[in-house]
Order: sequence, then structure tokens, then C-alpha cells
Amino acid sequence: MKRRFFGAATFWAVFVLTAAPLQAQFEDMSAEESNAAAADYQKYCALCHGTEREGYVNDQAPSLRSESLMASGYPTELLYTIGYGRRGTPMGAFSEEMGGPMSREEIRRLTRWLNEQVGVEPADLSYEPVTGDVGLGEKTYGDHCVKCHGAQGEGEIGPAIGNPAMLSLTSDAFLKYAIENGRDGTEMRPFRDQLSVDEINGVTAFLRTRASGWKMKMPVLESPPAPEDWILNPESPAPEFVLKDDTYVSANDLLRAVQEKRRMVLLDTRVTSTWQMAHIEGSVPMPYYDDFDTVTANLPTDGTWIVSYCECPRAAAESVNSELVKQGFQNTAVLWEGIQGWVALGYPVSVGQSTVMETAP
Ligand code: HEC
Ligand code: HEC
Repeated sequence: MKRRFFGAATFWAVFVLTAAPLQAQFEDMSAEESNAAAADYQKYCALCHGTEREGYVNDQAPSLRSESLMASGYPTELLYTIGYGRRGTPMGAFSEEMGGPMSREEIRRLTRWLNEQVGVEPADLSYEPVTGDVGLGEKTYGDHCVKCHGAQGEGEIGPAIGNPAMLSLTSDAFLKYAIENGRDGTEMRPFRDQLSVDEINGVTAFLRTRASGWKMKMPVLESPPAPEDWILNPESPAPEFVLKDDTYVSANDLLRAVQEKRRMVLLDTRVTSTWQMAHIEGSVPMPYYDDFDTVTANLPTDGTWIVSYCECPRAAAESVNSELVKQGFQNTAVLWEGIQGWVALGYPVSVGQSTVMETAP
């Protein structure tokens, strides 16, 4: 699947659903919008990223004017980073939903403005996993990346690329693009001519395996559960959810249910390649575009809680949930914060099995 499709059709649709018609995202900004975005930038971002977006003014904040970042990161990675932050680093979450000062509309406007300042064609990147030899990648990381990104990806001269909050919300292609092309105007040099294709793919695949935490020696890459395993903790009592607006469960309450190992089904309603990047453990990939009749045939009809989530915050999950309600399923809910909120809160995620991903010997 191509990023253009994902970005335009899915991501934007859900991120700005109520804010503006889809078409408007790709039109030039008016002078008024530009001025407002520039003012927001100076107010909220210049402190660390610099008045000219040059980066490295405070806290090693990266450059926001490299062509490489914009070509690979606009709009999705930029929106996610600004909205949800990178927990554990000085990059905070700016969206109102996460307690930040900016509305979705303002974040969207600022992101468009950042992109317009650089004015580069987007690289047409895929969301499919990059496959490679993870063992070779670990070695490559040790030989070439540790000195700037830290032995555990904690960041030094360069960003904390081992941070689950970063990895869970960035595609393999985005990472690989930075590794191949570097980030112009910064210390991050292109590795295209320094490393072999196998080493680049390997180090990308290695970083992906760290998305559920660096310290895991080699995480188990989960396969999508078979229908007989959809109900988590079948012998346990149901969770006690108090729903907001009869629909939404908070990340806090869901975390408690996960930790107490309660009986429930979790549906990840995003496109399956994003389930693979990172998901809530035990969740069933059930993209919103699946054929519903086939899908629901395997869901329990005995009142077991079924919680849907997506990346949105919520449009895909809401669409699946309302279909479930229509079909008479009783205890259904949607995760209020979405997976980004979950990740931004530092809650645990698992990494999915790609059919072709190789693990270290
Ligand atoms: C307190 C300092 C600080 C402030 C204020 C701040 N940032 Fe950041 N930002 C950082 C740091 C540090 C990182 C790198 C985090 C890491 O290690 O991953 C970062 C990362 C980013 C990235 C990811 C860049 C990349 O290379 O992937 C974007 C985009 C970004 N910030 C945008 C913004 C915007 C827009 C604002 C204002 C709304 C802002 N930041 C405010 C410190 C800050
Ligand atoms: C000389 C220091 C240096 C080395 C060596 C280095 N990096 Fe970087 N890297 C950086 C800096 C600095 C940035 C942020 C650049 C910017 O401002 O956008 C970065 C950015 C990145 C990013 C983008 C992160 C983000 O938040 O968007 C990735 C991925 C990355 N590096 C991977 C690697 C890998 C893998 C290696 C080893 C093959 C490596 N780097 C080696 C300094 C380095």
C-alpha cells in the first residue's frame, strides 16, 4: 500500500474528519493561515527547534527544515510527533487530547506550514515492513550508529531512535529513508554509499524489533491470533468498564483490564501493516474495510467485551464499533485515546510478525 493513499485517504480523513473537507489539506495556505501557523511555531516550538527551524537550539531538538524529513515525514510522522510527542524525550505532546495547548486544526495548520517552508515533493513511501537480517542489523547498529544514537537507542547527538513512542508511530520506510538519505544540513549523513543494501535493511528491521522496548533481547514477533484465540483470558471475569458517552473506554481503564488479565476481545481496526508496526498485545487485526459478515462470524455473542481501537483517535474504530452495535453485540467499546494516545502514555505494545521478517540466529 502506498503512503499517498494512506496519508490522504485514511490518515487525513480520520485526523481531520470534523475539521475541514479533505481537499483543503492539499491546497496552498492563505496568508492568514500562514501567519497564524508561523506565530504558533514561534510560540511553541522555537525554544528548542530554533526561530528558523534549524534545530539544535535546546535539548538536541532535530532540524525541522531538512528536505529529507519533509519528503519522508509529511504529513503522518510530523502530525503524530507533534500531536502525541515522544514520551521520555523533551518532545512533548501538543494535542489537546493529550493535555497539550493545540487543537487538531492548529496542529494540522502548523504541519502544513512546516512543509510549505521546505517545499519538497513527498517521497512515495510504502507502509509495508522492510525485511532484513535482524542479527546483521544489530551488528550494523553497534558499528555505525551507537556513537550518535546511544547503545540502547536512548539518543545522544541524534534522536532517541530506540524510543517505543517513536518507533510505534513511524513506518519502516520512514526509518530507512533517513538511514539511506541522511538528513541534509545535520549530523545525520546518508548511509547509502557506506552500508550495503543488506546492512541498511537489517538495521531497519532491527530497529523495528525494538518497538516494544530496547531491553528485550529478541522480542517475540506475534502472528495475528487465530479465531479460537481471539478471546483473551477466557477463564477470567469481565472487566468493569465505565464508558464515556456509552461508547468510550479510557486508556487507563483498558490498561488495568490488560494488567488484570480480564476476559475480552481487542480489535485493531487500522490497516494491518500498522498492526505489525506496533499493537496492543493480543489484539486481532480487523481493518475497518474488512467484510463485516465474515468477520463477525468469529466474534463471541455471549456479551464478552469487545474493544476496538485505531490510530485516529477514533474514526475507524467507531465505524467498526457501530457496525457491531447494529448487529446486536452487547458490550462494545472504543478506546478513547487511540493507539497514539496509548503509546504516548508509555503503555506497552507488541510488534507483529511479518511473514518474511528474519530473526537473529
Ligand atoms: C522542549 C524542547 C522542544 C519543544 C518546545 C518542541 N520540541 Fe520537537 N523535538 C524535541 C526533541 C528533543 C525532539 C527529538 C526527540 C527524540 O529524541 O526522538 C523533537 C522532535 C520533533 C520532531 C520529529 C523530528 C524528526 O526528525 O523525526 C518534530 C516533527 C517536532 N519535534 C516538531 C515540533 C513542533 C512543531 C514543536 C512546536 C509545536 C516542537 N517540536 C516543540 C524538542 C522540542
Ligand atoms: C554522527 C552522528 C550520527 C550517526 C553516526 C548516525 N546518526 Fe542517525 N541521526 C543523527 C542526527 C543528528 C539525527 C537527527 C537529524 C535531524 O536533525 O533531522 C539523526 C536521525 C536519524 C533518524 C531519524 C530519526 C527521527 O527522529 O526522525 C534515524 C532513523 C537514524 N538517524 C538512524 C541512524 C542509523 C540506523 C544509524 C547507523 C547506521 C545512524 N542513524 C547513524 C546522527 C547520527
